[in-house]
Amino acid sequence: MKRDNEKNRSRALRLVEEEVTNLKKSVLYLERIKNGVLPVIGEGSIFADIMFIGEAPGRKEAETGKPFCGSSGKILDSLLESIEVDRQHVYVTSIVKDRPPKNRDPFPAEIDIYAPFLDRQIEIIQPKVIATLGRFSMIYIMQKFGLSGDLKTISLTHGKWFEARTGYGKVTIIPLYHPAAAIYNQKLKDTLKKDFQIIKKYAKKKPK
Ligand code: URA
Repeated sequence: MKRDNEKNRSRALRLVEEEVTNLKKSVLYLERIKNGVLPVIGEGSIFADIMFIGEAPGRKEAETGKPFCGSSGKILDSLLESIEVDRQHVYVTSIVKDRPPKNRDPFPAEIDIYAPFLDRQIEIIQPKVIATLGRFSMIYIMQKFGLSGDLKTISLTHGKWFEARTGYGKVTIIPLYHPAAAIYNQKLKDTLKKDFQIIKKYAKKKPK
């Protein structure tokens, strides 16, 4: 049963990867080809209870095809370490799968193009907890799960948790600051560390 499930999930995720790789209608696809870099689909356990969703890949991520492997990734790793969660037991991705030039914020039209792939990743992996990293994924995920009424600025919403229903069961949404915001800001890093304690409660040290 688990093996079948594993095959189905892997196959479905491969399809997402293939489609993003060939997403010619995206302007960011053209940037990717021009710069000879990679799309960043996501990484981690396909049975993860916890999914982290960032904004868009940075330079290092686009070079390697791996999410959160640059300076914000180092912060994410240290936060996971602080709650004794192994990164390979969670799933890490971002809404936008191609790097916006000069790391600018993604445009709404870019979020519209890539979000359906994120939706599919959520349906495939069926996380019990979705931790959003930064305001773009917070806004998208809270709206997607009918939580628009609770949506405030990230400084008011971070570290709270919200229950929502999905086609596969209940999910807890935890909005968090983006780790990049904490690179030169120790106070914000401390806040993130504190907020991560909420995730600890949901964390499983072994995959399902
Ligand atoms: N920031 C993101 O939002 N995603 C990444 O993969 C890296 C940095």
